Amino acid sequence: MKRKAAIIFSCLALVIVGAFVWSAFNVPRQKEMRSFPKAERIDLGNVLVVFYSLTGSTKEIAGRIGEMTGGALFEIETEKSYPAAPIVYISVWRELKNGNLPVLKKIPRNYSSFDVIFVGSPVWFSSLPAPIRAFLSQSDFQGKTVIPFSTQGGGFGDFFASFEKEVQNAKITKGMDFSTSSGRDVSALDQKIAVWLNELKNDLLHKP
Ligand SMILES: Cc1cc2nc3c(=O)[nH]c(=O)nc-3n(C[C@H](O)[C@H](O)[C@H](O)COP(=O)(O)O)c2cc1C
Repeated sequence: MKRKAAIIFSCLALVIVGAFVWSAFNVPRQKEMRSFPKAERIDLGNVLVVFYSLTGSTKEIAGRIGEMTGGALFEIETEKSYPAAPIVYISVWRELKNGNLPVLKKIPRNYSSFDVIFVGSPVWFSSLPAPIRAFLSQSDFQGKTVIPFSTQGGGFGDFFASFEKEVQNAKITKGMDFSTSSGRDVSALDQKIAVWLNELKNDLLHKP
């Protein structure tokens, strides 16, 4: 009996250690981008969509915002890759605890040709991921309209409150959160993005 328990315990330990070793040497897998139907253009002026995405959910929505508005896309990338799950949770937690910000490959240098800048990101530990904090700490939006959006597994926590605190010199307009579970239905997701963008268009048209 004791021998059987020892074998089961050893196998479990091996699987757990194996998962950790595997994740330490692998980067997170990007989900496959789904295709959306052809949509009518929603004119918000010259649009830039800046986004950070570890596994592709935010990238998919950023891409759709770009398609609908005719906007340009800019992906924030870190110099050092994050490991795959489950190790990623440990490295992100340590980064958060120590207040460390990752080095970014590059950021947009000039926003002068854009009217509206979307900034999208996943929620990490109920808040802004360090790559987006790093991006905001190096960016001055000089009175531009900035619109945040998040993707998350459950709740967005203090994502939008932290975003408002850390963004510099921007006029922030109605952000939007997208949960990964409700995003499984492509046409519902598409509808949510279109409704939000049309509301933004109305707000921007009627701004003083
Ligand atoms: C390190 C880490 C922490 C996360 N923390 C949260 C969280 O606090 N709340 C939540 O709802 N989702 C959380 N998630 C899930 C992601 O926000 C969600 O899967 C998101 O859509 C991923 O976006 P991406 O594919 O663009 O990276 C976390 C994911 C990771 C990797």
